[in-house]
Amino acid sequence: MTYVRLAGVTRVHGEGATAVHALKGVSLELDVGELVAVMGPSGSGKSTLLNLAGGLDRPTSGTVHIGEQDLAGVRDLAALRRRSVGYVFQDLNLITSLTAAENVMLPRELDGVRSGRARQEAMAVLAEVDSADLADRFPEELSGGQRQRIAIARALVGERRLLLADEPTGALDTRTGDEILRILRARCDAGAAVLLVTHEPRYAAWADRVVFLRDGMIADTTDTPLASAR
Ligand SMILES: Nc1ncnc2c1ncn2[C@@H]1O[C@H](COP(=O)(O)OP(=O)(O)OP(=O)(O)O)[C@@H](O)[C@H]1O
Ligand SMILES: [Mg+2]
Repeated sequence: MTYVRLAGVTRVHGEGATAVHALKGVSLELDVGELVAVMGPSGSGKSTLLNLAGGLDRPTSGTVHIGEQDLAGVRDLAALRRRSVGYVFQDLNLITSLTAAENVMLPRELDGVRSGRARQEAMAVLAEVDSADLADRFPEELSGGQRQRIAIARALVGERRLLLADEPTGALDTRTGDEILRILRARCDAGAAVLLVTHEPRYAAWADRVVFLRDGMIADTTDTPLASAR
């Protein structure tokens, strides 16, 4: 069952002679339970693609559907994102004045969940990423790998069905990186759809399918051995 559908999507930044054509007609479908890796050189449009798939940005032309909804017709994209989309940003975006648990609770509280229950939900996902003991620490008191786990917990909280991860393994050691892929894969196998940007074939191997972007276009798509084993 298709959960996300991008059809003929383009994204142009700016106008006239200085316009940047970040995406030039990309069509991509992501099924429920599917993990798709996006690879490609710097500037090829990977982050732009994730932003469009999650409704953080709107296409210049083409359409994006999440479930049955055409995002062009959604007034409150922020609310849809909080409910349905978990995003791990390239630069993590943790709020420095909030503890790890408060960072994870925030999207739920913004959605009207009471703080007691939001805290319970946050503690459950922190446990899932093996970070319950870090709940009351502030981001600056955490290592890079620990911060990465908190950012992932924030993306997982509230049972979001679409997870978008922009190089979530960043500069992590391979053991922590593998652990993060294991967590994303488990969510996927539990019914989420995951779009993962990575430069590392090691992590792309956890995906069902790898999409290669070049100059804003899909240059190639390949099933992984994992897909054929399923
Ligand atoms: N807000 C913006 N204004 C102008 N140009 C932009 C903007 N955002 C992205 N671009 C341009 O669009 C193109 C695609 O950028 P994007 O961030 O999607 O690349 P990327 O594949 O994620 O690269 P990286 O691997 O370095 O993260 C680049 O040429 C970039 O400079
Ligand atoms: Mg990027």
